[in-house]
This record gives sequence, structure tokens and C-alpha cells, in this order.
Amino acid sequence: MISTTNVSLRYGKRVLFEDVTVKFLPGNVYGLIGANGAGKSTFLKILSGEIEPNTGSVEMPAGQRLAVLKQNQFAYDDQQVLATVIQGHQQLSAVMKEKDALYAKYDLGTATDADGERLGVLEGEFADMSGWDAEYQAAELLSGLGITEDKHYSLMSDLGASEKVRVLLAQALFGNPDVLLLDEPTNNLDAESVLWLENFLDNFENTVIVVSHDRHFLDAVCNYMADLDFSKITMYPGNYSFWYESSQLALRQRQDVNKKTEDKRKELEEFVRRFSANASKSKQATSRQKLLQKLTLEEIKPSSRRYPYIAFKPEREAGNQLLSVDGVTKLVDGHPVLK
Ligand SMILES: Nc1ncnc2c1ncn2[C@@H]1O[C@H](COP(=O)(O)OP(=O)(O)O)[C@@H](O)[C@H]1O
Ligand SMILES: [Mg+2]
Repeated sequence: MISTTNVSLRYGKRVLFEDVTVKFLPGNVYGLIGANGAGKSTFLKILSGEIEPNTGSVEMPAGQRLAVLKQNQFAYDDQQVLATVIQGHQQLSAVMKEKDALYAKYDLGTATDADGERLGVLEGEFADMSGWDAEYQAAELLSGLGITEDKHYSLMSDLGASEKVRVLLAQALFGNPDVLLLDEPTNNLDAESVLWLENFLDNFENTVIVVSHDRHFLDAVCNYMADLDFSKITMYPGNYSFWYESSQLALRQRQDVNKKTEDKRKELEEFVRRFSANASKSKQATSRQKLLQKLTLEEIKPSSRRYPYIAFKPEREAGNQLLSVDGVTKLVDGHPVLK
């Protein structure tokens, strides 16, 4: 779980966030959406502590661990692939390094009693963090993302750009973080890795917050939308399509002043019912049911965003008869499909 209380941030005159108080709970995948430049990346940086808000605070339960998908593809160039993944768990990685340094002193015969005691402490911490499984788990993540074993001990600098992205993704996912922040994770990922990630997130039981411009991906993984608009964040249960369609419906309803409230409520209920029927993933199905039970018209706000589109205006309305065919026959592999 991760939450914010009254977080505000401004750059000069531009107000990015004003008194944002939100809570992200385990078991959910939140899609953080908003216009370009609305502050999505900045908000993730506030959550991770990279940026300090002007006012307000970020809270996480004591002892929980947060992981971020690193954006700098060159940051680990001088390190091995497997070690890069394990560095996703900073505490474990630090213990491993200190342990190695102390064992090296034993090899040289320069270790002291104090070194021996320290090693005892480190071995305990290492075991508590499932250190013995670390390499196996890192290797499994890498293989899942198509980085074959022959590359696990290569230097990061020897990998291609698309491979580096996958290693950094494995790094973020490594060690089952309590909170996972992903900013545009599908950028530069091949279709197979995107599918693998969708499946991984569907089985992930902790808290995920993801920014993505890929609507298909948001639909596949998210069961909540966190909409960043008007310097606030509003939560909506459901995936991206549900958020988009319902906010468009709210916009149409708001413009239609003649329609009675009761009619609008019925239209909304019918809309939610249709959408619930299509819920494929279990996470989504459950939140849709909850949504049905308590959704009110006032809760769905029309978005302030304008979507660019290309419109073709026909010169005249289409008539009743759009197409007529006469005596068409079609064979596919010798079988008639039209006769
Ligand atoms: N360090 C900074 N100083 C001033 N303005 C900034 C800084 N960082 C980001 N911004 C501005 O804040 C806004 C939000 O940026 P960003 O979080 O990257 O948006 P998004 O990820 O939603 O596209 C943008 O208008 C950007 O120009
Ligand atoms: Mg961004």
C-alpha cells in the first residue's frame, strides 16, 4: 500500500498538484492517466521520493519496499546482467556486496574477529531476504522476458537497447516489491514481452501503479484508473475503456439538459451492465461488480481532455441501400463460403 496526504507541487506558476490525497491498495493495478504534461511522471517521482512535494506527504507501511522501473538505460553499463536485476532489491544487493568483500578478506587471511561477527549478522539478513533464491529468481525473470542464460553474465553495455529495457523491467519486478511503479513499461518492448508482463501483473498480489499510452495494455492489466486532471487525482474502478466510455457518457448526459435524471441513471446502469458482461480478467470482474453496486451519476466526471481525431464529412447522408450484390460466389480452398 502507498498513500499521499495533501500533496501539492508547483513549478513557477504552473500548479501540477493541489492537495492530492489518494490511497493505492494491494491487489490492484492502477493505471495513472492524464494529458501530456499533466504530471504523471512527476507524480510517480513524488511517490518514490525522488521529488519532494511543496507540501504534504507520502506514506508507506514500515518495512515495505518500493521498486521503480529505471529509465536510464546506461546506468548499469559496467555491471553484469544478473547482478543488475538483483540490484532491484537494494538492501539484499548491499548485503551481498558486503559479504563478498568480507569473504575476500578471509581468502587473503586479513579477516579480524569483528569481520567474523559482522559476517554472521549479514548471513542472517541474507537468509531473511531469501538471498539463496535470488540468483534463481533473477534468472527466471530474465528468461521469462527472453534474455537467454548465455547472456546472464554479460555486461549490460554488451546488450542491445531492447534487451536492456527487459533487464531493467526484470530489475523492477525482482524480489516481489510491495509497491511497483512503472512509467511507460511497454516502450521498446516486443509483443511477446508485453504479453508476458500482462500475465505477470495479473498474478501480482501487491500494489502496481502504471503509466502507459497503450490503451490495450491498460485494458489488459488495470482494474482501477487514477485520472490526473485539474491538479487532482480521481479514482475510478474498471479499466481504461470503461473509464473512457463512462466519462464520454457523462459528458453527453451533462450536455443533454432535457433528459430526466431517472433516464440518465437508467442509461448509466445499462452501460455498466454491458461493460461488466465483457470483464475478462477476474480482478476487473470483481471491481465492476462493486462499481455497479454504488456508482452514481455525480461520481463520473467528464474529462477536461480533448482527443484529437480526423473527421470525414460525407457530402450527403448515406441512403438506406449501402451495398447491393448480385450472383456472388467465393471459394476458399475449394469450399464455397458465398454462393
Ligand atoms: N524540474 C522541472 N521544472 C519545471 N517544470 C517541470 C519540471 N519537471 C517537469 N516539469 C513540467 O511539469 C509538467 C509535468 O511533467 P511530466 O510529469 O513529465 O508530465 P507527464 O508525464 O504527465 O507527461 C510538464 O509541463 C513539465 O514541463
Ligand atoms: Mg511522462
